[in-house]
Formats: sequence, structure tokens, C-alpha cells
Amino acid sequence: MTSYSNYLHEAVTAARIAGSYQKYRFTSFLEIEMKGDKDLVTEVDKESERLIVEHLLSRFPGHNIVAEEGVYPQGGSICRWIIDPVDGTTNYAHGYPWFCSSIALEQDGELVAGVIYNPVYDELFTATKGGGAYLNGSRLSVSTRSPLKNTLLGTGFPYDCATDPANNFASFITFQMSARGIRRAGAAALDLACVAAGRLDGFWELKLKAWDVAAGVLMVREAGGVVTTFDGSPYDIFNNRIVASNGLIHDEMVAMLTSTASGVAE
Ligand code: IPD
Ligand code: CA
Ligand code: CA
Repeated sequence: MTSYSNYLHEAVTAARIAGSYQKYRFTSFLEIEMKGDKDLVTEVDKESERLIVEHLLSRFPGHNIVAEEGVYPQGGSICRWIIDPVDGTTNYAHGYPWFCSSIALEQDGELVAGVIYNPVYDELFTATKGGGAYLNGSRLSVSTRSPLKNTLLGTGFPYDCATDPANNFASFITFQMSARGIRRAGAAALDLACVAAGRLDGFWELKLKAWDVAAGVLMVREAGGVVTTFDGSPYDIFNNRIVASNGLIHDEMVAMLTSTASGVAE
């Protein structure tokens, strides 16, 4: 047991509450609003966030909350929960069964606990700082595959990829030609969990938000992986370019991203 176990326990409870609700509503009629041309939000995103925030604040009333769908008062606490109530909303809205809730806790600006829960597969990914990463209680470690040509990678594309040249297309083509394969599964938090679990050997994406990555970054690190920005420099969850890997292929990924994504405005 780590000193973060109580936080982790309550985050798991919140993720399971939201996950049950998501499963119950999955493929039912949903009210959907558009946040942008391609960016959806459903009533399930909003209700999941309400359920998660309600649970966490009932246990930790003074803590700060940053979550995708709402704005919450920021008090003087050193603890901040970073929440994506439904990561993979497009999948969810289309009945494609690959989505999750992602909940992370920062203490004094440092990631200390993370939970990613996929209710369809009943897969619960957890991590605490210094305590390792787990899938349904079994310890995770990143893959040992290398070099890049032997690997399976994950990525995604920003919602504004039709209008902004920082669209990931050049990098996608280069990696598709160099690696064994690429998956675009539609939920960045689960992509990172898959790197931690050794299912993917690497992942990169741009323009992700803190709630997409916070829990997954801790999970990859605790599973022995490496997370940086595209140029290999230290990553924090407010950077908008992330590359995560098993470590063995990191330099190769950074070299490719440096050549394909350089010169493209942020
Ligand atoms: C999205 C997913 C997707 C990624 C997008 C994210 P959402 O989050 O993580 O995989 O490519 O950039 O915004 O909107 O489903 O929470
Ligand atoms: Ca997301
Ligand atoms: Ca979301």
C-alpha cells in the first residue's frame, strides 16, 4: 500500500460509478451537441462528469477539479483532480465499444495517482507514483519490442485536422511506412494505457488536453516507459505534443517526429 492508496481507491470507485452508467446508456438514444465541426459532447459525458466530481468532492471536499465538460472553483488545496469523464466520445456516440473514464490526481503539481476504466471490457488500469501500474490488479510493464520496424504504434488526429496544418498527417504516413502497424482507436487515455500494458510499443499525438493524458502518462512511466515532447524534452501534461513509448524505440520516434512535425506551427 502506498500513501496514495486512499486517493486511488476513491478514484476507482468514481470511475466504476461512471462506467456502470456509461455501459447502461451505451447504444441508447443520446442527446448530442457539437462543440466544433467534428467535436461531440453527449449527455453521457456530462452526467459521467457529474457523477465522478460528486463522488470525489464528497470524499475530498477541499480538492480542486479540472474536468473537460465543466468549470470548477479552484481553492487553496495542493490536490487537483484531472478528469476526462468519457475519453472516446466519438466512439461512444457511434456505438463503437472503445471508450473510458480517465481520472488523475496531481499533488503539488506532480502526478501521484491515475485510473483509466474501460467499462465494456471491464478493464481497470491504475497507477500510483512509485507504486507501479496495474491492470485489474496485475502489474504492468511496457513491451520489449524494438527496433521501430517491429512495433505497433498508436496515434490520433486533432478535431481541427481539416483546417489546421498541424494535423499529424505527415507523421502518420512516415510511421505507417516504418513501423509494423498503426492503430487509431479513438481514445488517447486508452492508447496510453495500452503502451503501459505492452499492447502498443509507442504512441504519439498532438493537441491533446491535460485530461486526455494525465492518468495515462503516470501509467506509462510507472510501467517503465518514457514520455517526452516530440523533440525529446521533458513532458508535462500541458504540453500539446506527446510521445510515449517502451523506451527502446523512443529515440527513433523522436527522430521521425522531429523531421515530420518540425516547421508545423503549434
Ligand atoms: C479525444 C480522444 C481521441 C483524440 C482526440 C481527443 P474525447 O478525446 O482522446 O483519441 O484523438 O484528440 O480529444 O473528445 O473523446 O474526450
Ligand atoms: Ca479526451
Ligand atoms: Ca472527453
